[in-house]
Amino acid sequence: MNALVRALFGLAGRLSGGDDLYRQDYDLRAGTYDLAETRPLTKRASEDLIARLELRPGSRCLDLGCGTGHSALLLARAAGPSGRVDACDISAGMLSVAERAAAGAPCPVSFARAGMTEFLEGRPAASADLVCALWSAEYCRPGPLLRLCARALAPGGRAAMLVSTAESLSELQRAVAPLLLRRPGSIRRFPPINFPPGRAAFLAAAGRGGLSVERLEERALTHSFRNASSLAEWLNDSGPAAGLAAALKPERRGEFFAAVAGEMEKRGGLTVTFRYLECIGRKK
Ligand SMILES: C[S@@+](CC[C@H](N)C(=O)[O-])C[C@H]1O[C@@H](n2cnc3c(N)ncnc32)[C@H](O)[C@@H]1O
Repeated sequence: MNALVRALFGLAGRLSGGDDLYRQDYDLRAGTYDLAETRPLTKRASEDLIARLELRPGSRCLDLGCGTGHSALLLARAAGPSGRVDACDISAGMLSVAERAAAGAPCPVSFARAGMTEFLEGRPAASADLVCALWSAEYCRPGPLLRLCARALAPGGRAAMLVSTAESLSELQRAVAPLLLRRPGSIRRFPPINFPPGRAAFLAAAGRGGLSVERLEERALTHSFRNASSLAEWLNDSGPAAGLAAALKPERRGEFFAAVAGEMEKRGGLTVTFRYLECIGRKK
């Protein structure tokens, strides 16, 4: 998708009241989220980032957009029995999977159904050692989110994030955008798009928010879909494609995904690239 089309979709997202679309899709995908073809890639990146943090035992952690609980459980293991994790997510479906996953966690883990900015607003200031948002910060505007993270952190506390950028899955964006533009009647609302354009924009937002950035790497992971049906299944079931199905009119979804699959057949498959920022910031 070029920058102009992305800007138009972004504007449409702000105007069309599609804030709820990600929640709707994540509710439907909760059961398949961890089974998606690309999930091992994103899981490994999360594990590497948490290991890199070398958390102190007893750390008080917040997990924003905890999903099915993989990130909350990694934090609980890293913080040990004297630590604690308070997690939030907007999707009741994702949270119910997370609650089951965290049943055997080594330290207390709580889950709240809340948007991450309202969750942070409700936290006491300077009360957390770590605020984590793995594959979830891109759903919120970075400026307000990073400011609220800094507020919740104790002096010296850290924020750790894996944030998809606007260029993530650009191969898919380029394939899907023309099909959407040719079928405007398929769309009911647009999800808001807050994905940062790149490193510089995120760095500036972190600085303004009160975090000094200790690590900010642009990273990429690639995955090839073998055939059109595996891509169609992934569009329907996975986290990275959330927002697309809910944006479409239910009666037009089947036809739209068939058109995407047809496009993939013509191209002989599709390799997608997850582009994301790995960020560790410290409260100034
Ligand atoms: C890609 S998943 C990541 C889940 C988890 N952090 C992980 O690494 O497996 C993104 C999650 O963010 C949640 N989410 C999206 N927008 C949110 C918001 N504004 N506030 C809280 N959670 C949100 C979704 O419901 C979804 O569970």
